[in-house]
Order: sequence, then C-alpha cells, then structure tokens
Amino acid sequence: MWTFAGSTALRALAVAATVSALSDVDFYGQSPPVYPSPIGNGKGVWAGAYASAQDLVSQMTLEEKANLTRGFTSADNACAGNTGTVPRLGWPGMCLHDAGNGVRATDLVNSYPSGIHVGASWDKNLTYQRAYYMGKEFKTKGVNVPLGPNAGPLGRIPLGGRNWEGFSVDPYLSGQLVAESITGHQDAGVIANLKHFIGNEQETFRRPYFGVEAASSNIDDKTLHEFYLWPFMDGVKAGVGSVMCSYNRVNNSYGCQNSKLMNGILKTELSFEGFVVADWNAQHSGVASAQAGLDMVMPLGGYWGDNLTDAVRNGSVTEARVTDMATRILAAWYLVGQNGSNFPEPGVGIKNMTLPHEAVDAREPDSKPIILEGAIAGHVLLKNENGALPLKKPTMLSVFGYDATVPATKNTDILFELAYTSSPEMAQAVLGTVQHFDQAAKGGTIVTGGRAGANGPAYISDPLSAISQRAALDDTWMNWDLSSPNPDVNAASDACLVFINAIATEGWDRDGLHDDFSDGLVLDVASKCKNTIVVIHAAGVRLVDQWIEHPNVTATIIAHLPGQDSGQALVKLLYGEAGFSGKLPYTIPKNETDYTVYKPCNRSSEEDMFPQCDYSEGVYVDYRDFDARNVTPRFEFGFGMSYTTFEYSALSVKPSGQNLKLRGDSNSNSTGDGLWDIAVRVETTITNSGSVDGAEIAQLYLAIPNSPPKQLRGFEKVALSPLESATLRFELTRRDLSVWDVVAQEWVIQQGTYTVFVGASSRDVRLTDSFEL
Ligand SMILES: *[C@@H]1O[C@H](CO)[C@@H](O)[C@H](O)[C@H]1NC(C)=O
Ligand SMILES: *[C@@H]1O[C@H](CO)[C@@H](O)[C@H](O)[C@H]1NC(C)=O
Ligand SMILES: *[C@@H]1O[C@H](CO)[C@@H](O)[C@H](O)[C@H]1NC(C)=O
Ligand SMILES: *[C@@H]1O[C@H](CO)[C@@H](O)[C@H](O)[C@H]1NC(C)=O
Ligand SMILES: *[C@@H]1O[C@H](CO)[C@@H](O)[C@H](O)[C@H]1NC(C)=O
Ligand SMILES: *[C@@H]1O[C@H](CO)[C@@H](O)[C@H](O)[C@H]1NC(C)=O
Ligand SMILES: *[C@@H]1O[C@H](CO)[C@@H](O)[C@H](O)[C@H]1NC(C)=O
Ligand SMILES: *[C@@H]1O[C@H](CO)[C@@H](O)[C@H](O)[C@H]1NC(C)=O
Ligand SMILES: *[C@@H]1O[C@H](CO)[C@@H](O)[C@H](O)[C@H]1NC(C)=O
Ligand SMILES: *[C@@H]1O[C@H](CO)[C@@H](O)[C@H](O)[C@H]1NC(C)=O
Ligand SMILES: *[C@@H]1O[C@H](CO)[C@@H](O)[C@H](O)[C@H]1NC(C)=O
Repeated sequence: MWTFAGSTALRALAVAATVSALSDVDFYGQSPPVYPSPIGNGKGVWAGAYASAQDLVSQMTLEEKANLTRGFTSADNACAGNTGTVPRLGWPGMCLHDAGNGVRATDLVNSYPSGIHVGASWDKNLTYQRAYYMGKEFKTKGVNVPLGPNAGPLGRIPLGGRNWEGFSVDPYLSGQLVAESITGHQDAGVIANLKHFIGNEQETFRRPYFGVEAASSNIDDKTLHEFYLWPFMDGVKAGVGSVMCSYNRVNNSYGCQNSKLMNGILKTELSFEGFVVADWNAQHSGVASAQAGLDMVMPLGGYWGDNLTDAVRNGSVTEARVTDMATRILAAWYLVGQNGSNFPEPGVGIKNMTLPHEAVDAREPDSKPIILEGAIAGHVLLKNENGALPLKKPTMLSVFGYDATVPATKNTDILFELAYTSSPEMAQAVLGTVQHFDQAAKGGTIVTGGRAGANGPAYISDPLSAISQRAALDDTWMNWDLSSPNPDVNAASDACLVFINAIATEGWDRDGLHDDFSDGLVLDVASKCKNTIVVIHAAGVRLVDQWIEHPNVTATIIAHLPGQDSGQALVKLLYGEAGFSGKLPYTIPKNETDYTVYKPCNRSSEEDMFPQCDYSEGVYVDYRDFDARNVTPRFEFGFGMSYTTFEYSALSVKPSGQNLKLRGDSNSNSTGDGLWDIAVRVETTITNSGSVDGAEIAQLYLAIPNSPPKQLRGFEKVALSPLESATLRFELTRRDLSVWDVVAQEWVIQQGTYTVFVGASSRDVRLTDSFEL
C-alpha cells in the first residue's frame, strides 16, 4: 500500500520528469504561478463592509487574525465547521453548515426542491424566493455560512454523483440561478458560499486516497472561461461573500493551492472581494495555500493554526496576507449584516439530535407556498398520449413501484447519509474495488440526493398517500403493490402509475443512467395495462429508451427531487390543478453511447498515482456536443410538455451600435462594467393558443462564430391564460456575445454573423433572426 508521504515524493518525480521532457514550461496540465495574492480593497457594494472589517482587524493580534482563518470543534453545536472566535474583542465566530438545498442534519427545518429540480423550473423569481426563505432558516439556526449554491460540478459527465446539487449542465442557466440564489441568501442575512471552484466534475478520485492523488482536471483557458467559470462570474457579480475551493487538482495543482485560479482568476480577473474557504480537508499545504490565495481552512486547523503564525514570524508568509484573509472574512460578515445583535448565537439551532436540546423552529409560514410552487415547477412532462393526463375522476387507479411510498425510517439526514469517505472501505469503493451502491433507491421515494447536499424534510408527502387523499375525494378505488417486480394488474384500472427513481450522492459517481429492475417493472406493468403512466424521481439524467415507445406507456414524468411536498405537487399536476411547465436542464439521450464523455476519468494503470482528466472536448458538453455532432437525443435540452400550447410571433432583434465595438476596445474585461452592458435587445410575443392556463419557458439560443451551433443566452418564464399574449424581452450583454481570447486575455466580440434562435427548447426553434458584426 502506498503511503501519503511516498506519493508526494512520487508526484514530485513525475512532475519533474514531465517538465524535462517538454521544452515549453507553460504546457498542458501545469498551472502557471500567479503571485502575490491580491489584497481585497472593498470596491462598490463592499465599501462599507470593508471599512468596518478593516477597523476591527486593525485591533487584532496576529494570533487573533489567524484564529479567524481556521476551524475548531465546538462542544456546543454540530455545525459542519466553526471558525475560531476573538473573545477579547467580542467577535463570536461563525458557523458554516451544509448546504445548498436546505439545512442539513438538524430538526425543524424544511426540505426544499434540490438544485436540479430548481434548474428544471427555469424560474428566476422562484429561485430567489427559495434561497431567501432557505437563508432565513439558516439564520434562525445560527448558521452564518450555508455551504451553497453549487455551480460545479456543472455535469461534464452524466454519471457525476453531485450533478443534482447544481441547477444545470448549461453554464448560462446555472449562472442565472446561482446569482438569484446568492442574492436571496444574502438578503436573508447569511453569507452564500459558491462552490466548488473549479473543475470538480467527478466523485471518482475526487480526493487523494492511499497514495493516489485526486484527479487533475486539465482545462484549457478558453474552455475554463466560456464554460466552467461562467456561472462563477455571475456569482461574483451578484456579490457572493465566499467561494469554496475544490478537492480536485486543476492542471495538477490542488484547487486550494492553485495560485492561477485563486490569485489570478478569482481575485484579480473577477475582482472577488470575499473569502475563499477550502472544502473540508481539501488543504494540502500551509505556506503554499496561503500564498496561492486561500483564506480559510476547515473543519480544523489543517496546515495552519500555529503553523500560520510561525510562518509569519519566520518570514515565509507576510502578515499582510493574514490581515487580508481576516479582512475578507469579516467583510463578508459585515456585508450581510451579521454584526451587532442582528444574528443569533452561531450554531444555536444545530445540535446533536440525540442529546437534550432546545427546539429552534426555523420554519416560517411564508415559505410554504414557495416550497410547494417550487416542487410543482421542476416536474417535466416527457410524453402524454391518448389523453392520459390530466386524470379525470378515475374509477380505479393502480399504483406500483418502490418509489411510491416513504422510506421505513426518517432520520435527520434522510436516505443516503453515508459515513466519511476517508474510511478505508469508502476509499476502496471510490477506487472502484468494492461494489457501488444501487442505482435506484429501492427503500422508498427520494426527495433529495445524498450526503452534504441532502436536507431534513419536516415531513414527506409521498405519492401514494397524496394520491390516496385525492382518491377519497373522487371515490376512486385504489390498488397498490409496491414490492412485486411483476405485480398483478386489475384489468379494470383506468390508469396504472409506476414509480421508480434514480439516486445519486456525493462521494460516488453513478454506475449508469438506468437500472434493469426499474425498467423491468415498467415493462411488466405496461404489458398488462394499456394506460401506464411512469413517474421517475431522478437525481440526474435517466434514460427512458427501454420503454418510452411502448404503446401502453401513455405518459412519462421526470419528477426530479421535489423536496418535502413531492406527492402533493405531483397530485396537483396529475389532476390538472396545476400545469406542467418544467423543462429539462440537460439532454436525455437515447443511449449512453451517444455521449462523447460519459465515464469519470480513471487511472491509466494500477501504477498510475496521478489520474488525469483532459477536458479535450472543450465546451462541447451536453447539447453543445449533440448539436455539433448532429446526434439526435431522445429529449433535447430545454424540452418539456404542457397541458396547453404556445405560439411564438413577432421576433425583433436590435443590436445597440455603441456597445458593439469589437476587439481592442478597453471595455472587455470581467471587472469592467462594459462586459455587462446590453448589446442586443430581443423581443418576442408568446400566446397561449390552447384551452387551459399554462406557463411557458421561452428560450433564446445564440450561434456565435467559431462556437457551438447554439448556446443558451436567455430564458423567460411567463404564465398565460387561454388566448392571452405577452411580450418577452431578452437583453444580451457584451459577455453573451463574446468569446475568450487566450492571447489577449480578454473577452472579445468577433466579426461575423450571429444567429438568434427563440423557441420552446434547444431543438424546437420557432423564430430565427440574425445580425452581422
Ligand atoms: C491549464 O493549462 C492550460 C494549457 O496550458 C492553460 O491554458 C490554462 O490556463 C491552465 N489553467 C490553469 C488554471 O492552470
Ligand atoms: C481562538 O478561538 C478559540 C475557539 O473559539 C478560542 O477558544 C480562543 O480563545 C481563540 N484565540 C484567541 C487568540 O482569541
Ligand atoms: C415572485 O414570486 C412571488 C412568490 O411566488 C410572487 O409573490 C411575486 O409576485 C413574484 N414576483 C414577480 C416579479 O413575478
Ligand atoms: C502544524 O504543523 C505540524 C507539523 O507539520 C502538524 O503536526 C500540525 O497538525 C499542524 N497544524 C496545526 C493546526 O497546528
Ligand atoms: C516557517 O514556518 C513554517 C510553519 O511552521 C514552516 O513550514 C517553514 O518551514 C518555516 N520556514 C523557515 C524558513 O523556517
Ligand atoms: C454593522 O456594521 C455596519 C457597517 O458595516 C454599521 O453601519 C451598522 O451600524 C452595524 N450594525 C450594528 C447593529 O452594529
Ligand atoms: C451525539 O451524541 C451521541 C451521544 O453522546 C454520540 O454518540 C454521537 O456521536 C454524537 N453525534 C455527533 C454527530 O456528534
Ligand atoms: C397493452 O396492454 C394490454 C392490456 O390492457 C395488453 O393486452 C397488451 O398486450 C399490451 N400491449 C403490449 C404491447 O404489451
Ligand atoms: C445502447 O447501445 C448498446 C450498444 O449498441 C445496446 O447494447 C444497448 O441496448 C443500448 N441501450 C439502449 C437503452 O437502447
Ligand atoms: C480503472 O483503472 C483500473 C486500473 O487500470 C482498473 O483496474 C479499473 O477496472 C478501472 N475502472 C473502471 C471503472 O474502468
Ligand atoms: C477593466 O476595465 C475597466 C473599464 O471598464 C478598467 O477601468 C479596468 O482598469 C480594467 N481592469 C483590468 C484588470 O484590466
């Protein structure tokens, strides 16, 4: 077995060997040095917060400043992390706690729809409201920093175990919803934490285990900017208070000691003024991580603590760097108003559940409609034939499948709270030598994915009980068999509902995109029931080709991860009390083989201690890739059916001349306002041409020269009554038209033809126009 120390030496050797073999130092797979670490100076919205932070930090000793940058175990709370305190100045410290989909591992909180579900809603307002009420829960519980939202992984590999924690594989959709979430959290008084920075696209080899280093995401500069960094730009622009550096390596340098990423891109190019916290135990060096721009280590002292103060005393790290760390941390704290008596005692509502504790109920009545609306909004209708849906007072309904009911036990972490991956068994599992977990969670319905992104539901409205309640009103006779793989079907059933799921969890990538047991169940029921409706709770892409064209499968719903109001939301949709409006925030292909990149990166051999992931596909991920290779998906990105129909008309595309200067003007860097200036205004009219109320998500795709055939650059959701029309406005910024010029190191607008596509999905284009630059 390799020891950790041995592997470090080996890595040095391997890097040295590669360096000598290549003439150019700046070769693929090496991260350039960017020093010194920029000192935050409080521009714009940060000005007041910086002034207060600088004032408080100026009163601190070196030890006190260093105390802010590290974690301590607390006897008083069960927060995922607690910073040190400064008792002499009355600074109370901060509680950092999971995560982006609701408060984890505690009681008396709500389970909100998970990221992928929110992504499927494409609803900016609802995303803001969700983050705002969720943020208030974190605050009531005494959590200063909720560890979300998630803009990485985006979903480079469809098997990614954490893809569901984020909103979409599309950087534009992710960026818009990340910005809403940050604003919502911070308006509620907590410090949002945008994670994981960056290239954290797989769980396999996500951390070093037994001498094998974490996988290295080798990403070229253009791909980084145009794809993976894009949502982080939106997050920094929204004023995010903190960013989490990631477990993986980028160009072979660990994310939390990569100076190009933290000093260069985040703190210089994007002018990020908040603090960078390391993912838990993701720090692998002391002096190097401090120099590279890391500001806080969790959950304990890592390589810092006394070592950081020693390093200042012996001249290895300047005191100014530690002052900057402390200032950035306190500035974020002031920015969201956590000073004064405004904020509860850190961790007051995050306690060990089995020990006596005071009840801190964080749920507010005002959040209830947001949770239910959000649960409804993320369901996507894929198929609806023979008038299968909505249901109309059925006489007899039959319900099948393990996913229709609640799991036998509800614990605070629900379903997939697994032990830490640092245990040998887990490490083995991650290395692929122990069996992976089942693709379907057969123990009951899923309302969230697993581990850090999971949350504690107040209750679970499960499909079977919600349908039963409705059956009682309609005098519907119900049959159910949730355990048999080949259940008997009462031939008089008006409809048969089959509930299956696809689970994913932090720590593991998925083994596949469908499982034979669940598909077998669907096929079995479909062979006996001519009106079979399939509902899939899914923490990611779930293939449906095994049965989608079966003539008895009349309807199919991707129900994603709705949170605690799952069943209630579904019943409203099934019975037409609410309309389907969700659209896929990813592509569903016909086959796994349709992907260019499908599996996580692996070692080249048993001797390979440095797994390499070359992102040679560039930005050609998901629909960008399917479109470019002309591969027809089963259901394209942006697809989703409705109970009504919409017509698109009157497209107008108006470039604004003065903002469209090309390459070489001075307004094109990320910090300059110029990048966000409106360059093109687009308008279109949407009419509800059907006979029931409904909401449409109109999407704008742009063809930029020398880029994928289409890239999402706008979307708007609009609710309309029958025959009602609305004019939707899209504003394309200079960034939306730009590509990253790796030589000039700036965003540039190229000369050429730009085509604007407006429609109901990435392939259901209704109107097209173009302009020349
Ligand atoms: C990674 O390497 C590529 C190729 O040399 C380079 O374009 C990119 O800027 C590097 N990125 C980082 C973060 O080191
Ligand atoms: C650092 O924080 C710890 C934990 O809160 C506290 O006990 C200690 O007194 C602090 N040290 C200083 C120098 O303030
Ligand atoms: C945003 O959503 C809230 C809650 O659903 C609603 O009250 C409000 O009117 C919405 N605002 C806009 C601008 O749509
Ligand atoms: C400091 O360095 C020593 C020696 O490398 C190490 O054992 C210790 O855990 C480090 N961390 C802290 C917080 O002191
Ligand atoms: C300075 O202190 C740090 C932390 O203890 C240590 O890692 C480093 O080797 C020291 N450098 C010198 C030159 O003594
Ligand atoms: C919190 O700090 C801000 C400045 O950032 C200041 O204006 C405000 O008065 C402070 N609030 C309290 C309650 O101390
Ligand atoms: C909670 O307390 C129990 C009983 O003291 C202990 O066994 C358990 O490990 C604690 N859990 C956590 C998460 O600290
Ligand atoms: C569809 O269901 C009916 C029962 O209602 C069954 O007789 C028929 O064989 C099924 N069709 C297929 C293709 O399995
Ligand atoms: C995907 O393609 C493989 C190889 O052609 C085939 O064996 C498999 O059945 C296909 N899967 C589906 C879901 O069609
Ligand atoms: C990964 O590579 C190792 C070593 O070459 C091999 O034993 C293992 O089967 C591979 N795993 C997968 C999932 O391909
Ligand atoms: C970015 O552009 C602005 C003008 O929009 C300019 O003031 C600033 O100096 C530029 N920053 C860098 C780092 O080039």
